[in-house]
Amino acid sequence: GMVRRYKFNVVMRNTTRLCSSKPVVTVNGLFPGPNIYAREGDTMLIKVVNNVNYNMSIHWHGIRQLTTGWADGPAYITQCPIQPRQSYTYNFTIIEQRGTLLWHAHILWLRATIHGAIVILPKVGVPFPFPQPHEEVVMVLGEWWKSDVEAVIDEAMSMGMAPNVSDAHTINGHPGPLSNCQGQGGFELAALPGKTYLLRIINAALNEELFFKIAGHKLRVVEVDATYVKPFDADTILVAPGQTTNALLTTNLDIGRYLIVASPFVDSPIRIDNTTATATLHYAGTAASTTTVLTDPPPHNATAIATNFTNSLHSLNSAAYPCKVPLKVDHSLLFTISLGVNQCTSCAKGIRVVADINNVTFKMPHISLLNAHFFKIAGVFTDDFPGNPPMPYDYTGKRQPANLKTTEGTRLYRVAYNSTVQIVLQGTGMIFPENHPIHLHGSNFFVVGKGMGNYDPNKDQKNFNLVDPVERNTIAVPGGGWVAIRFRADNPGVWFLHCHLEIHTSWGLKMAFLVENGKGPNESLLPPPKDLPKC
Ligand code: C2O
Repeated sequence: GMVRRYKFNVVMRNTTRLCSSKPVVTVNGLFPGPNIYAREGDTMLIKVVNNVNYNMSIHWHGIRQLTTGWADGPAYITQCPIQPRQSYTYNFTIIEQRGTLLWHAHILWLRATIHGAIVILPKVGVPFPFPQPHEEVVMVLGEWWKSDVEAVIDEAMSMGMAPNVSDAHTINGHPGPLSNCQGQGGFELAALPGKTYLLRIINAALNEELFFKIAGHKLRVVEVDATYVKPFDADTILVAPGQTTNALLTTNLDIGRYLIVASPFVDSPIRIDNTTATATLHYAGTAASTTTVLTDPPPHNATAIATNFTNSLHSLNSAAYPCKVPLKVDHSLLFTISLGVNQCTSCAKGIRVVADINNVTFKMPHISLLNAHFFKIAGVFTDDFPGNPPMPYDYTGKRQPANLKTTEGTRLYRVAYNSTVQIVLQGTGMIFPENHPIHLHGSNFFVVGKGMGNYDPNKDQKNFNLVDPVERNTIAVPGGGWVAIRFRADNPGVWFLHCHLEIHTSWGLKMAFLVENGKGPNESLLPPPKDLPKC
């Protein structure tokens, strides 16, 4: 592969959306940030220069970072943040991956505006396993707050309460023509009739799973999270934060304007957020005054549409791209995924919302876990996750008594190199059942099973798909249900696992795996680069 260099200059930029302006933390002055392009096998050298007064770190979401964990990006997990006026060059090679991923800030809530696409093309001469598109279009879905996002989360954390929801969702940075700010056109996808377009759809929103659809057109799903899937047609696509979906759009009409919508899938009974982002698909030669053909977004609680979509996802599992799901399991784990409340002396109501995995609310360390691991610095973490056995739950999603038994800890789960791990991610209803898009750093996993209610090892294991389960890096655990994932721990280092709803991460819904070095060549974590930021 070749070496590709990018420069990310992190600067404040005054930005106007929804008829009001505010200073925004940006990369190179852009919202969303720049897209980066590569081919499988290329080495990326991305120099991040921090010219704002926040600490910074950038995560290359879904890039495996084989032996290069120092370039993964989550602050205090694999690096100390890049301090104001400092820089760090992320240096990594893209190995056996191609497709669409995203990069984003992995500190505070700066991901709100610090994000963009990673487009990885196959190696030269290697075709897509689907018809070559006429053109490719990146569609970044996001959120917009009129107020300062860091102030929103600071206030929520100090009050111990849920934060305000965003004021709009966005498509390529714009709420779109149907927003309540007149005269905001939004993103326009210009198309020729009779062609195929590859849409690279990314959910970069902080806190919402999103439906995506286009009036009058079907979408053919061909890839998720930079892994090929068995193609299928869908009217509506569901993308959780951190997930990506590549879909082919065939322009089978001749003329006209068609609405594109991105709207939240919120299955929680107490939180409703219905701001729909819009954009326009227009055929070449259509007058701008032509009335746009509309389409209704699915209702926010359209669980059947969501389930139907996720049930359609299967690994391509072809000769060229075989499905490598581990058939035998070395570590079989059950993680309960929960929101709850803890006592809080400094909070207004005496309690605060927390989130946990197996009753452990993860406490962020003050130096990076990877540093502590590599340099054997004691006292930063323990490798006894979860510690005490999890409190017994009724996981059925019924309303539960508040969880007052969460403990805090910086606990890692240690595994030997190349061992295989199965995790049943069991959603619970401690406050209310809610979807949790769980993201693993450093490895893709296979989604071998899912269901509603309590996971039953005797019954459910028999139905696992060990032939063509979808491979991804982020999976939405359904509210009041469970998902079983498997992965091979063949990447030495410290790897974060967390809910990709940013508020749940802030509340502590996170943990990390420690994968030991192997004995062979290329089976050890490399030493840190010289410019790795110091805490
Ligand atoms: Cu996309 Cu740990 O995040």
